[in-house]
This record gives sequence, structure tokens and C-alpha cells, in this order.
Amino acid sequence: MKKYSVIPQPRVFSVCGDEAVFTLTDNLVFECCEGSRNSLNELLGFFREVFCMEPVGFGKEKIRFEIDGEIEEESYFLKVERDRILLRGGSEKGLFYAVQTLKQLLFSGDGKLTEMEITDSPRYGVRGFMLDCGRYFFTVEAVKQFIDMMALHKLNEFHWHLSEDQGFRCQLEDKLLLTEIGSYRSHTNFNSIPHEGYYTKADMLDVINYAHSKYIKVIPEIDSPGHVMAMLAAYPELACFPRDFSVSTFWGVKHDVLCIGKESTIDFMKEVYGELAEIFTDGVIHLGGDEVPTVRWKSCPDCQRLMKEKGMKDESDLHTYYLDTIGSFLREKGIEVRMWNDRVKDNMTDKSITWQLWNGAIGKEDVAKELNSGRKFVLSCSALSYLDLPYAETSLAKAYNFAYEPEGLTDEGEKNILGIEACLWTEFVPDMLTADKMTYPRLAALSENAWTMKDKKDYGAFIEKMPSYYNLLSVLGIRPAPLKVTEPKGIRRLAGKIWWQRRQLTWGAHHNIISDIMAKKALGKISETE
Ligand code: ACM
Ligand code: ZN
Repeated sequence: MKKYSVIPQPRVFSVCGDEAVFTLTDNLVFECCEGSRNSLNELLGFFREVFCMEPVGFGKEKIRFEIDGEIEEESYFLKVERDRILLRGGSEKGLFYAVQTLKQLLFSGDGKLTEMEITDSPRYGVRGFMLDCGRYFFTVEAVKQFIDMMALHKLNEFHWHLSEDQGFRCQLEDKLLLTEIGSYRSHTNFNSIPHEGYYTKADMLDVINYAHSKYIKVIPEIDSPGHVMAMLAAYPELACFPRDFSVSTFWGVKHDVLCIGKESTIDFMKEVYGELAEIFTDGVIHLGGDEVPTVRWKSCPDCQRLMKEKGMKDESDLHTYYLDTIGSFLREKGIEVRMWNDRVKDNMTDKSITWQLWNGAIGKEDVAKELNSGRKFVLSCSALSYLDLPYAETSLAKAYNFAYEPEGLTDEGEKNILGIEACLWTEFVPDMLTADKMTYPRLAALSENAWTMKDKKDYGAFIEKMPSYYNLLSVLGIRPAPLKVTEPKGIRRLAGKIWWQRRQLTWGAHHNIISDIMAKKALGKISETE
């Protein structure tokens, strides 16, 4: 029997017999419906790119598009009969997912299909992919290629990480220096060549419209109050100890963060997020909030004053205060706020902020407690979902077997797991060749974790789909890691692990020693003038 390859694996997939009843020709009839335009365009684009075909005509083979409001929004039904394919979605989005499945069926079946029926719907509502454009700038064209691939994998949220210590990439009309100064760094960790780039408002709107045509939401992230060296290079007054800062050229968690004690910093950041919210209208904004050392706050007169005024017990309360303040500012505009899971212990942020779980610093019991008490989570556990990790650390099998299951969840707690997101951090991903190698085929594994029901997941069956998947990627111009590289053994595995650990050491940021000395000097000056 013909083996069809569809990723992510559909919920119910029944193939009848061996005889091909439908053959792709360039004489197809399309029976469209209201709302089927994006789906039709997607299919025609695929025929053009992959089969070099422009099918229009009056032949006997028909493809029919239908929308049925009785079915769930993202669900679809696909049926192949003699000379006829029916695609029925619960909405435009569901129909679009039916097309993604049909593309893969036709590709793996060499344009011929036997009778079959598929009934499909996703496990999770959030199926995300994050691209870090702060460390390295990726062109609009490259971003669109990721969006195309997200659509193929039925992912629906593009998390656009737009600012980092190493670069601020999102042009804000009200704060032009952020990109004029903050988008350029003098050299990189790979060579002494400067690196730069940012997105204009027109670029961002172009990406947003493109993503929307593929039913993908765009969630922008400007990371604060840490990871802000590029912002401080442009506006040093946002720091506790203003001085000449440069956009970082090296990785690691920096000691210089936003000064929470100055009201002017909070006002500035409200303006930043306010303008961001005007550009990105999908109703979700990510504040970042990760990896924030408190060392500057401990010696900053402004931060200490605020702590006293508000009766805060320690500097970590400043972190929470900042996120809650910006969080409520955005929520008042009707925006869902996300942040990384760093503020998780006893002084947790507002329950309406969704946490993106990324590290193991929070125990599963704490996660369960939060979920049960109403906190929403997106799961991006670094050991499983960080696509920048070497395959020696996160092999394809490990990524596939993603299972983060906190125990003791109530029904409500279970529902508060919104979904899963894979993250491509780019400290060591300077170009699309490397990006492809790290992302694929692990994105395929992620898509099955996010879409496919737990009892339908099967690693053996997934691996059987890889030859067809690799062929398809190749036709689409994507260059995945060779399959054998995705499961390193012996010396290769050891070397990969050593490389990773060496990288982690640099993350400890020994270069903060110098910035600590400079900050002390600045503190001396502040004390003299007081
Ligand atoms: C993170 O990896 N710092 C979110
Ligand atoms: Zn301060």
C-alpha cells in the first residue's frame, strides 16, 4: 500500500485500497467558496513551485473547498474519491490546514492519491515558533521563509524576538535612536565584521500581513528590563548608572539593566510598548523579563528609594513591580501579556500574565500550583524546545518525545497549558544555512508535539516519514541537518556536549567585571553630586 507522509500526523487517517483514484493534472477544476481564497492561492503556489504546474481548466478532476461552521475553527475534513477531493474546514483557517495536508499527500504520493479520509484537529491552541532577530538580523525574505514553513507544519504563532543586548531591530518612530544606534554592533563573536539591520514599520507590516494570509499571529517581543544593552547604548539615561554603553558584541547575562527606580524609565518603556502595540495588532505582546541580575539595583539610590517607598522586601520585587506595571498598562489596552518564567517564586507577577516556561528553575509542583490557580503557560522547556541546542544535547528523538506533564492538574489547570513553542535563539546562528540545520527536522518533531494527540504520536512512524519530508524540504529550498547528524553517537555526541558546556561558561559573563568597575565609578560621581 502507498505510504503517504503528513507532518504533523493527523488525528484520524484512513486510506482505502491501492488504486490511484485521483491524479494531479494541469486541467483541474476548483470549486471555491467564500473564504477559500488564501487556501486556493496556497495550493496554486505549491503546484507552481513543486510540480511546475499552473492547473486551471475544465478537466474531470475537481478540488472542492467548503467551510462548515459546525466544525471547530482549526479542524478540517479531507476526502479523496474518484477524480474528486473535498476539503472542508471549520473556518478559513481549518480549510488552510486541509490544504497543508493535501500538499504533503500529493507530494508523497507523486501526484496520485488513493481513496482516503482524514479528520483532523489540533491538540493545542498555541503552536509557536520564535526567531531571535536580536542576536542576528534576518531579512524580511528569510522571516517569510520561516512563516511559510510554519504554515506547512500547521503552526499558528510567530514570536518575533526583536531586541537583545546585541541589537534592537524594530524601528519606532517615536524613538529613532533605538535603531539608529542600537541596531549596529562593531563586530561579532565570529569575526571582526560589523553586524547591523533593523525592520522599518513597513517591513513589520509586510511580515504581519504575510503571516495573517497564512493564519499566523505575530507576537512581538521587546525584552526588558534585562537584555537591554542595545537600548542603553542609545538612551544611557535608562540605566541606574548612565555612562557610555555600547551594543554588546559578546553573549552572556549583563549586569546593566533598566533602572526601575526612575519614573522616566517606566514612562519611556510605556511609550515603547505603546508604539509596539500600535504596529502589532494580534493582541499579544511579550515583555521578555528573563535573566535580570539585581546587582545594579542594590546600589542604585533611585531603585533603593522606590523599594523603601513601596515596602519591597528585596530587589526581586523591583523585577515583579516593573513587569506588573508594564503588564497592566498593556492589559488596559486589551492586550494579553506574555513573559518568560523568571519571576516565579514567592512574589509572583499578576496572574493574568501568561508565562512562557523555559528553564528548570521552577519545579513541576510550582508550575502545577500556578496552572491550577489560573496562570496560563506556553511550554518552551529549553532542553526540549530550544532549536539552537546542539543535536548532541537535544537529539531529534529527545525533541520528539517532549512531554512536560506537571502532576496533579485540575481540569482548569490542564486548560491553562495554552500550547508549545519552539525557540530558535541565534547566538551561534549567524545565517540561514545554520538556521535551517538547527531548525529542521526538529520543527517537524515540535509540530507533532503541538498538533498531534498524545496517543497518535509514534516516533517509529515519524522517522518513516523523514525521507519524503527531506525531499519536500529540498524542493522548497530548505537545508535540514542530515538525519544521521540528528542522533549523534559516541565521540560526536561527546564533542557536541563539550562544545555546549564551553558555551555555557561564556554565558556566565566574566566581562561584567569591567562593567562593574565602570558602574562603581559612576556611583562615585552620583554620590559626589548628592
Ligand atoms: C531565555 O532563554 N533566556 C528565555
Ligand atoms: Zn536604578
